[in-house]
Amino acid sequence: MAVPPAFLEELRARLTLSEVIGRRMRLARSGREFSAPCPFHNEKSPSFTVNDQKGFFHCFGCGAHGDVVGFVMRYDHLTFPEAVESLAAVAGLPVPRTAPEDRQRHEHRKSLHEAIEAAAGWFEHQLRTPAGAAALAYLRRRGLDDETIAAFRLGYAPADRTTLRPALERAGFSVETMVEAGLLKRPDDGGAPFSFFRHRVLFPVSDRRGRLVAFGGRLIDGEGPKYINTGETPLFHKGQLLYGLSRARVAAAENQPVVVVEGYMDVIALVRAGYPGAVAPLGTALTETQIEALWQLFPGRDKTPVLCFDGDTAGRRAAARAVDRVLPLLAADRSVRVAFLPTGEDPDSLIRSRGVAAFATVLSQARPLVDVLWEMETADRRFETPEAKAGLKAALDARVDQIADRTVQGYYRGEVGQRINALFWNQRRQERPAAGGWTAGRPFRPGAPRPVTAPPEPPRRPKSASHRWQRLLLATLINHPQLLGEFHETLALTDMTDPGLDDLRHALIVHAGGQTGAEQGGGTADVRARLVALGFQGVLDEILDPGTYQNHRFSAPGAGLAEARRGLADGYATFCRIRIGRELVEAGKRLAQDGSERNLSRVVTLRGELVLPDLTPEDTL
Ligand code: UTP
Ligand code: MN
Repeated sequence: MAVPPAFLEELRARLTLSEVIGRRMRLARSGREFSAPCPFHNEKSPSFTVNDQKGFFHCFGCGAHGDVVGFVMRYDHLTFPEAVESLAAVAGLPVPRTAPEDRQRHEHRKSLHEAIEAAAGWFEHQLRTPAGAAALAYLRRRGLDDETIAAFRLGYAPADRTTLRPALERAGFSVETMVEAGLLKRPDDGGAPFSFFRHRVLFPVSDRRGRLVAFGGRLIDGEGPKYINTGETPLFHKGQLLYGLSRARVAAAENQPVVVVEGYMDVIALVRAGYPGAVAPLGTALTETQIEALWQLFPGRDKTPVLCFDGDTAGRRAAARAVDRVLPLLAADRSVRVAFLPTGEDPDSLIRSRGVAAFATVLSQARPLVDVLWEMETADRRFETPEAKAGLKAALDARVDQIADRTVQGYYRGEVGQRINALFWNQRRQERPAAGGWTAGRPFRPGAPRPVTAPPEPPRRPKSASHRWQRLLLATLINHPQLLGEFHETLALTDMTDPGLDDLRHALIVHAGGQTGAEQGGGTADVRARLVALGFQGVLDEILDPGTYQNHRFSAPGAGLAEARRGLADGYATFCRIRIGRELVEAGKRLAQDGSERNLSRVVTLRGELVLPDLTPEDTL
């Protein structure tokens, strides 16, 4: 829809920005302007200002900026034409449709909406006729009362092929419109169009603004697919919409949880049980568009709908598919949580058999995506051989690689790396438990035999810059254990080429992981004593060496904390640069062999990473 600029001017002139905004949130006057805490980012102090003279809002905190249409688009989660339409209604102005095709398109869609609306009314009525008795009895058997049937506008499509058409014709709709709206189906043989839904209970589906656009129809008895939906029409694309979306939009604005379930009946059961944020896809697996639509529902920063799946194998498979869809789309503050239902139950049956509290429990146990990812790869498996470990790492790496957002990807890599290290370390500890005092993530079984362990080998002489970095990182953290928490991830991400160093690294990771914030690090003497008790004396002698400190004062015991922190940060940046450089060489070779899009984009990405700021030259190491 092309909106003429003059009309936008008129709209801006007719509406007072502070009034439009003031209807949605509290504004305080300050001089010629208004101010408030910004609705577009999380803050307590007001950096959001509204200026009626200029007709603009501006947030000094997050940079959000725009006019009245921009505000309504962002705040009400509307597209541009929708925002214009909504504001025009407030201002009492009809939206001019200058281009004839715009006007036609608008009229056309309007008639489709109206036809579906009329059909929904007719189907509702059919449910109350003798022909609809079986359907009504079915709904009653499923525990739906009249109030619910009316609220969801459930209806009945009679078994015959013909009665819908004359009923809607009498209401002024053409057969053409009915076919286009998906109410009638034109047979391939050119015969008369007939009713698409027959002998089914109908669930009307509305778009995000609450206008009816389609139906889902459930079999009552007899042969055929359990559910069918309206086919694709100008108003309805099943992969883009969710059942319950318009209600969930209101609910989300009121900070109710957004819960994604599988079916129509589940949404209805949840809404009745006090979860108005329940939605369901329409007979397909969750699509990208639907995930984006879910995130758009959330007014605040943290956008995390809960995806509910059955606890059985099919549910796990569906969850895996959903995770695959979501990973590439993750971004700052945009994620999902995943909840599993008891085996054999869906939300509808669970609430019916065990009550709302049972579902509340399921919801409260929803897990962050990173946990789900981890569990999918590790549940009920052990990784005892190097090959099995490498297999786990490769599988998790492949998943993490799917995340397009670089920052989120980086954090996932760090988190997953830590978990892998902790898992392998715990397995190793179970094989050869260490001397007392260490708190690992998992306690070992008391009474398990404790094999005698050979002390870890002292490391070989450093050879490369990355090897120097590995020693520096360990030395600095042992000398400044207060930094262990902060550099936990760095430690987890820095694979040590030397087995002795790698054992030491694991010991430090476990040490850091077993501590609470209050006791973060402990003293350096404490850490050293524990490492010695574990048999690391030789490795310590090797790396806590004046030779190490000579060129890198920050790593020495006498260095200040700030200096040590800066040294580690710089060192890590350099180390990454070296690693990226190496990967770039490899990627270049692959690209030379196979000029695929994928190989090219890998090179481009790595090049981009190389020119990141704050990197110090390699020879600082
Ligand atoms: P389920 O088969 O899990 O059924 O389908 P349900 O929702 O529990 O249905 P009831 O409780 O027996 O009525 C879940 C969803 O999958 C879609 C529908 O959207 C349904 O709500 N579906 C299912 C189809 O599109 N076609 C089918 O044949 C079956
Ligand atoms: Mn069900």
